[in-house]
Amino acid sequence: MAKQNQTLGEFIIENQEEFKYSSGELSRLINSIRLAAKVVNHEVNKAGLVDILGAAGETNVQGEDQQKLDVYANEIFIKTLTNREIVCGIASEEEDDYITITGRNKKNDNKYIVLMDPLDGSSNIDVNVSVGTIFSIYRRVTPPGTPVTLDDFLQPGKNQVAAGYIVYGTSTMIVYSTGHGVNGFTLNPAIGTYYLSHPNMQYPEDGNIYSVNEGNYVHFPQGVKDYIKYCQKEEGNRPYSARYIGSLVSDFHRNMIKGGIYIYPNTSKDPDGKLRLLYECNPMAYLAEQANGSASNGFERILDIQPTKLHQRVPFFCGSKNMVAKAEEFMQNSTS
Ligand code: AHG
Ligand code: MN
Ligand code: MN
Repeated sequence: MAKQNQTLGEFIIENQEEFKYSSGELSRLINSIRLAAKVVNHEVNKAGLVDILGAAGETNVQGEDQQKLDVYANEIFIKTLTNREIVCGIASEEEDDYITITGRNKKNDNKYIVLMDPLDGSSNIDVNVSVGTIFSIYRRVTPPGTPVTLDDFLQPGKNQVAAGYIVYGTSTMIVYSTGHGVNGFTLNPAIGTYYLSHPNMQYPEDGNIYSVNEGNYVHFPQGVKDYIKYCQKEEGNRPYSARYIGSLVSDFHRNMIKGGIYIYPNTSKDPDGKLRLLYECNPMAYLAEQANGSASNGFERILDIQPTKLHQRVPFFCGSKNMVAKAEEFMQNSTS
């Protein structure tokens, strides 16, 4: 039960029994993500100072090499997740292959795997625009006591046991679900504590925002071109507003609160689209469904897709239910 002024720590403890396996491990896992997010947040916040601090050379005040923030975020999340004895494998946008974690006793008996996009929207860092982190959590399918295999990572999104994101925006928020709705917590940076600020987040069933990189219009499939023209037509509550930040986390966050649709379609240049199924689309699709929204590749539910590759890409239509249904209708009725 969500309570006012509740901290994330209190919320995790109180809601632990809602989770079907309820051993406390998933709670500890979410806790470690909460910690890593604070560290990354601190670094993201001073991103504009990097050149100033590093002006004397390529090193920072601690004498370490300056690192690009997505490499830094990747390292922080991997270190933090590895330190707790919960995770047996991690896959990341920044790693070619998955990482096997044997645990301190080397017995491979941890149960959870994590897939992540440690820094989403990284092209926005240099211009002081919101970025994020996305995470997706599964139970392993191979037996504990053996090393993880690719099969543990190539599970359809509907098997996720939790997913979420952190948005490093005008304020920093962690938004996640363990399958009982979506809750958002805002960081009070003065004391380093997250408070429940957005209990039970829900997509409005309809919205009036569409988010797509229209610069690629000429490469879009006909169904998307037709849907964009529909969004721009003067009729009913249309034309819709166009809003596109260029970081999935931030675009998703706004659309979930206000009502809208995010589209990254396949294009003639990228026939599978740009976004990655396992650590961008699946976690966002899980959150969307938990918040009464939906997510599709234009033809089928994202969470039903059986992945075949770790870094697989997929066209992505995600947002308010009625808007996604309309976009699917255009996709399915077009011939090219
Ligand atoms: P990342 O920074 O993790 O590579 O992801 C960027 C993604 C996504 O966040 C964003 O919505 C999309 O790429 C933007 O792509 P375009 O610049 O092609 O619009
Ligand atoms: Mn990304
Ligand atoms: Mn990224």
